[in-house]
Amino acid sequence: MQLNIYKDYQSLSESTANTLIETVISNPTAVLCLATGDTPKLTYELLVNKAIERKVDFSRCTFIGLDEWVGIPPRIEGSCRFFLQSRIFGPLNIQESQVHLFDGMSHDPRDECSRMDDAIVTKGGIDLMLVGVGVNGHIGFNEPGAGTDVYSHLVDLHGITQSVGQKYFTGIVQIKQGLTLGFKTILQSKKLIMIANGLKKAAVMQKALEEEITTDVPAGLVRAHPFCWTVLDEEAASLLNLQILPEEIVMGHIKAT
Ligand code: PGA
Repeated sequence: MQLNIYKDYQSLSESTANTLIETVISNPTAVLCLATGDTPKLTYELLVNKAIERKVDFSRCTFIGLDEWVGIPPRIEGSCRFFLQSRIFGPLNIQESQVHLFDGMSHDPRDECSRMDDAIVTKGGIDLMLVGVGVNGHIGFNEPGAGTDVYSHLVDLHGITQSVGQKYFTGIVQIKQGLTLGFKTILQSKKLIMIANGLKKAAVMQKALEEEITTDVPAGLVRAHPFCWTVLDEEAASLLNLQILPEEIVMGHIKAT
């Protein structure tokens, strides 16, 4: 895993948007899995601007959803589908046929998970996956203690995810379960980028990157991925001791203030 540290959220987002753009330019049929959440918002804004400016063709790409809240319809602003539709698919004119997302309203979660896993296999796997990190260390809805040997599955959400998740909604909502890609798929993605910014992520990034790899901190499991880049701003990296990082982590970009 390579660790890249940028001065601030703006430069972290610029770098990540550039990586996404370059991926699609070099592979116009790329299969992309792009997380939702506050962390990648600026990345997607910059991605859309750069894509329009440079006339990058996304019409042959495929988009795979990372997760979705169970029981939240797509018209609700806090749903992952609404987020991706309004910030990426709409602005880039991505067609429904290019998109495979979990349906949080499905009455058959198991079938929904199989449908997603089948779509990924049919497309030949995920070329690039971009994930954020929850304050509890989750990736997607792979909560602390999650299995590593799982594909898509239904999850009972951790208490922290239920309370922090309220920030995405305008009123109070019941978010008790989620559907998510599992760690098997995350670790099988051809490239994986994990991003985190701000002081609120510093403690979890310290645990994920410096402590023993354990399912208690799912974000740390990506250290086993051979093509993973962790991209932090200085605040999220502020509790790391860069002199004594575990041997599987190599330093890439470091931007000093
Ligand atoms: P955030 O969420 O980007 O809104 O901080 C990250 C996550 O929970 O995965």
